Parts: sequence; structure tokens; C-alpha cells
Amino acid sequence: MIIKKICCIGAGYVGGPTMSVIANQCPDIKVTVVDLNEARIAAWNDADINNIPVYEPGLGDIVNEARGRNLFFSTDVEKAIDEADAIFISVNTPTKTYGAGKGQAADLKWIELCARQIARVSTSDKIIIEKSTLPVRTASTLKEILKHTGNGVKFHILSNPEFLAEGTAVQDLLAPDRVLIGGEQTDEGIKSINALVEVYARWVPLEKILTTNIWSSELSKLTANAFLAQRVSSINSLSELCEYTEADINEVAKAIGTDSRIGSKFLKASVGFGGSCFQKDILNLVYIARSYGLNQVADYWEQVIIMNDHQKLRFANKIIKNLYNTVNGKKIAFLGWAFKKDTNDTRESAAIYVADHLLYEQAEISVYDPKVPEQQIYVDLDYLATRSSSENKQLLKIENDPYDTCKNAHAIAVLTEWDEFNDYDWQRIFDNMLKPAHVFDGRNILDKTKLKQIGFLVNGVGS
Ligand code: NAD
Ligand code: UGA
Repeated sequence: MIIKKICCIGAGYVGGPTMSVIANQCPDIKVTVVDLNEARIAAWNDADINNIPVYEPGLGDIVNEARGRNLFFSTDVEKAIDEADAIFISVNTPTKTYGAGKGQAADLKWIELCARQIARVSTSDKIIIEKSTLPVRTASTLKEILKHTGNGVKFHILSNPEFLAEGTAVQDLLAPDRVLIGGEQTDEGIKSINALVEVYARWVPLEKILTTNIWSSELSKLTANAFLAQRVSSINSLSELCEYTEADINEVAKAIGTDSRIGSKFLKASVGFGGSCFQKDILNLVYIARSYGLNQVADYWEQVIIMNDHQKLRFANKIIKNLYNTVNGKKIAFLGWAFKKDTNDTRESAAIYVADHLLYEQAEISVYDPKVPEQQIYVDLDYLATRSSSENKQLLKIENDPYDTCKNAHAIAVLTEWDEFNDYDWQRIFDNMLKPAHVFDGRNILDKTKLKQIGFLVNGVGS
């Protein structure tokens, strides 16, 4: 079994970068990325590489090299499915917003649609690869759907979850800590696993390619995200204690992180974690545990989300409290809207919830983010449905220039850790603000001493 043609269904933040790197590293494999979203495919095909829909450092060069050679973006889903030996399913799996499991379970509607379409269209045997993050045991559902094609085509299902983080996707894909491939432990299953191992082995050392049974692989992805998010909630919980005790969370994080058993990563206190996956995947884990009657397990992981919601609200309330318990009519400048630096993705960004709470208190907000398009910010706020779209537009303004954003503001809130914020002329910003001028650094990235010398009143998170 040799993989010569790949189809990836879903040209999003995972499908796009992942397939671009595979195509880049394997020039002899034809990789076609398909999506129902025509605008997204058109953007991936845009002659101006700056217009591709996912902003990731280094991605433009990778796409430029492979696109048109062995990397293709298309809306012809059926053709790409039929001609492929291996199909990656990389569609969205958001939290359900209706019915049983609403607010917790993963919505597998799009996964099932893909499976049905694959079953309907395929005329040759294929390896089907779960790239999306899925609840443990989804492969059995996929198998069930694919089994009933009636045209004799054989499908081998693998789980190959993606561990890239946004903002560092290219680096994570080129030099992953590990690649995980789970499959059925039968002769045919092992042949399929080996075929996919061969693809990654072009650039990933074999000792970093882990193979497991399919259920371990599915569950490992949810577990990895749960552990990472748990570290952020753990450090954030202690950031609140720091604010009452004069301990500094940055010093505490450094002190514990140097213990090799703990490690230094994911100990950065913040306004709260965001992103499309941490919350959704933990909620899904909670739902799965509860569905097996494992209430203590479910409660344990749910606490990670409860703490994160508390951290976002606490940050907004800190702003209100320090602005003399009212923000009504006061201008608050937001630096950053993306859920982390080096991405244009805003899904579940803490900024959305902090803004919503401040707008509820009738603050006026101005926002600057180096990469997030203006329209997206309103889409994010409107999605909450707290107030009308026109009210959101009236109360929240978006600027293209950070100095204009901060002009005549009572306070600045740093919501994303963009490097450029440190390079600003903070004296100039101070001179143009109302006094006293407050900075609420939700990322602990600014030089607090320097800001205080200029005259700012500075609050960090736990420091
Ligand atoms: P996304 O929303 O950016 O992209 C998904 C794409 O799939 C969309 O463009 C959508 O139009 C398309 N799609 C949906 N159904 C389709 C269908 N039937 N046919 C063709 N196209 C279809 O999502 P994403 O961020 O790329 O995430 C995809 C999956 O990967 C999720 O399960 C997520 O949990 C997982 N994941 C995401 C990240 C990340 O950093 N974003 C990292 C690891 C894993
Ligand atoms: C995360 C995981 O890191 C990836 O391994 C995984 O593949 C991905 O989720 C996914 O499944 O979608 P991502 O959400 O892109 O990646 O970014 P992270 O770097 O994990 O950051 C998540 C959030 O936590 C961000 O809001 C970030 O600012 C915050 N964070 C992270 C902190 O507040 N403190 C930290 O120390 C680290």
C-alpha cells in the first residue's frame, strides 16, 4: 500500500497548513485540499500569497513552493475523493449548540456528512484518516457508515490527530514533538498505518512517529489539550492568589518551571486561554466521561473551564474596579483581539468576553489588532447576541493605528501578546491619554517598571 494521491476535506486552520507541509515535503504525492466554502478556496488560490486565509509565519513560502506543482485547492470535493488513495478528514468539530449534549458534546454533523459522501463517491479502496479532533470511539461510527456502501470498496480508518498550535503551525509541522497514528491492530490495519508512516517518515524521524491502537490515538488528542489547558488554568488560579499576597506569578512560574518534573512551558498567566479547541475539547471530554457515568472524572476536568471563565471575568472586573467602579462612557483601548499572537484567528478569544462584559457596563471600546480583519471583530461580538449589531458598532470602534486607538482613552487593556506592543512609543501614548492613565496587561508582556516611570498606573495578571 503506497500513498500517491491525498485528498484533504477541510481547508481550515489545520487542513490548509498541514497539507501544505505534506505537499512541500513530498513532491511526488499529489495533495488536493477541498472545501465547500468557495471563498476560502479562492483565497487559498489567490495569486497574492498575502491573501491566503490563514495567517501563519512561514506558511506563505511553503504554499508558494508547492501550489500548482503537487498542492491544489479545490471545491470539487467528489473528484478529489474519488481519485485519492488516502483521505484526511479535517473539518470542524465544534461544540453542539442544540439538542442532546448541547454546550458540551462535539457536533459530528460535518464528520458524518464527509463519511457519507466518501461512501457514495468512492470507486476504489481508500485509507480514511481522522485528522479532526474527535471523541474517543468515533472511528466505530465512521466504520459503520462506510461499511454500508454496497459497492465493494474497502475503507481502512486511521486516527492521526494534529498537535500543531496556531502561530507556530509551520514550525510544529516541520519538526513535530511526535506524530501519532492509531489504527486497527489487524494485518490490513497495520498495512494502512505503515502507509501513513511512510508519508511522515520523509521528514519526521521514525522514533517520533508513534503508532497505537485507534482508541488510544483518539483519546490522546483530547487528553493532550486537556493537560495543556489545565496548566494554564492552574497558573491562572494562582495568579489571583498572588494579587492578594504580593507574590509575583511570573516569579512563581519561573521557580516551579525550573523543576524538570514540572517544566517551564504553558505556565504563562494570562487573561484566560482562548482558541477554537481547548474549551471545546475539554467540554467534550467532560461529556464523554459523564456519558459513562464517570462524574468525578467529569467534574475534575470541568473545573479547568470554570477557572478559565472566572479568569476572563475577573480581568474585566479588575478594569472596572480600578476605574473607580464605573466604565460608563469611558474609552478603553484594546491592544489585541486574536486569541494569541501570530495568528488572525479569534475563535473563543478572551478579548471577546472581556469586551462583552465592559460593553455591558456601557464602556466605549476601541480595538487595534495587527492581523484580525475589522469585520471579524464585529462577527465575534454579534455572535454572542448580547446586544444588537448596530449597538456593537456604535460602542466598539476598530482602528488601524495603535496610537489612535489609545488616544483619549482612560485605560489600555492588552489582550494578545503581539511582540510589536513592546516596541511602541509609550511616552507618546501616555501623553495622549486621559489621566490617570491605566494599563491592564492581560499578558504580562510590557515592561512594568518603564511604564510606571512614564506615569502609568499598571496592573498585570498576578503581578
Ligand atoms: P476550520 O473551521 O478552520 O476548518 C474546517 C473547514 O472544513 C471549513 O473551511 C469548512 O468549510 C470545511 N468543511 C466542513 N464540512 C465540510 C464538508 N462536508 N466538505 C468540505 N468541507 C467541509 O477548523 P480547523 O481549525 O481547521 O479545525 C479542524 C479540526 O482540527 C477540528 O476538529 C479541530 O478540533 C482540529 N484541530 C484544530 C487545530 C487548530 O489549531 N485550529 C489544531 C489541532 C486540531
Ligand atoms: C492548542 C495546543 O497547544 C495544540 O497542541 C493543539 O493542536 C491545538 O490547541 C488544537 O487542538 O487546536 P492553540 O490553541 O493553537 O493550540 O494555541 P496554544 O499555544 O495552545 O494557546 C492556547 C491558548 O492558551 C491561547 O489563548 C494562549 O494565549 C493561552 N496560553 C497558552 C496561556 O494563556 N498561557 C500559556 O502559558 C500558554
